[in-house]
Amino acid sequence: MGNKFVLVGGGSTQSPSILEVLRRRYQDLDMTELVLYDNDPIRVNMLGKYTKMYYEESGSPVRVSYTTDIDAALTGADFLFMQIRPGLNKQRAIDEKICMRHGIVGQETCGLGGFSFAMRVIPAIMSILEKVRQLCPDAWILNYTNPEAVLSEAISQQFPDLKALCICDMPISIEEAIAGYFHKPLRDLTFKYFGMNHFGWWTNIIDEHGVDLLPQLRQDVQSGRTTTLLQTNEETIGDQYWSDTYKRMIRLFKLFPEYLPNCYLQYYLTPDEMFEDVDIDYTRGDYVMAGREKRIYDECKRVIENGSAKDSSLHAGDHGNYIVDIANAIIHDTRERFTVNLKNNGAISNFDSEAVVELPVYIGSAGAESINVGQIPTFQKGLMAQQKAYEKLTVEAALTGSWQKALEAAVMNKTVPSYRVAQETLQDLYQANKSLWPKMTGLPDFAVEV
Ligand code: G6P
Ligand code: MN
Repeated sequence: MGNKFVLVGGGSTQSPSILEVLRRRYQDLDMTELVLYDNDPIRVNMLGKYTKMYYEESGSPVRVSYTTDIDAALTGADFLFMQIRPGLNKQRAIDEKICMRHGIVGQETCGLGGFSFAMRVIPAIMSILEKVRQLCPDAWILNYTNPEAVLSEAISQQFPDLKALCICDMPISIEEAIAGYFHKPLRDLTFKYFGMNHFGWWTNIIDEHGVDLLPQLRQDVQSGRTTTLLQTNEETIGDQYWSDTYKRMIRLFKLFPEYLPNCYLQYYLTPDEMFEDVDIDYTRGDYVMAGREKRIYDECKRVIENGSAKDSSLHAGDHGNYIVDIANAIIHDTRERFTVNLKNNGAISNFDSEAVVELPVYIGSAGAESINVGQIPTFQKGLMAQQKAYEKLTVEAALTGSWQKALEAAVMNKTVPSYRVAQETLQDLYQANKSLWPKMTGLPDFAVEV
């Protein structure tokens, strides 16, 4: 019997790259069955029909199906790849605009945009994992769902018994860019990194001769020789947001030259500049809906109408490769190095041992084994401590529905300047997310229905 893979959130715009890599590598993974599960019947029908045709017409022997029945999807599952987005990109754009109206960044994973998304996603993931516990407790869960930082903390607290790995494609994408910058194959480089999801730093880039390349990168940046890691042929270069982001990341490294920051630190170290850069009438959520989302579903419709996927193809990018590489490492016990989110357990010796952190690990059939980091400096430790407090308060707010915890989380977030901004932004987010957030208790007067 081969392995059954389930894409939870199979109707997502992030599915195509995973579907393509799974198709190419089904033999490595011993994948005999693939299920796209989603609670959105329209989207899962579109991507499901497309995938079935695409696999069959390319001669794949994998049995593909799609469903909105979670029990059927999870029963007998060996691997779950999870990426869900309650409220879709539509709600992402609404949250971005609400935050901006209050003068703060509203990014999907950072600031109060991330908070609002966490309030939608945590209850949804908790109920899926309850099902996993009943129906396929031995399955490996590879979670890409955002906001990964907060979600990995919730999963670690509530489901320590499950085999879950919480991952993000940002570190690997940046590492690819670093390898490109140094004209070296990625496999020749060994990266040292610590932090939390969308909130970490590279401390060393060791090449095949054991030489650390970070000092060279630092010098290139300080001297003004380089302003980005991206090569002109990089696919992200066509997307203004990502080309700007890679430049901002290098600028941050120039301003804080100790370690190379994860690009998402732009939202915490320069939140005012990020705010100024975004057009409130056309945020990232709007851009994604008009671009990737439209392109993917239009293509599904076209293929379904034509009755053939022969003239269609999916693109295999970092997102798909990374998660499939991890599944492969588990199946074949390769003990390769990846970056994942897991309980610190003393790896960062001067940071909360219970907290989930993002670290390089070795992955094999027993899961992830972390690598010792040791002591981290005061600057990073201070930022992480505040961010971790925000994350834990957000988890508590989502699990209990406590308005007071929500307020504490918001005030704790580094992108929020004051109680007033926290309270007023939360009120508007709550009104816009009433049916999507958990039921809240201890609401202030604004919410009393008259
Ligand atoms: C990266 C991050 C993800 C994030 C995505 C946003 O891949 O690691 O966590 O969701 O970017 O991309 P988008 O095109 O939706 O803005
Ligand atoms: Mn991510």
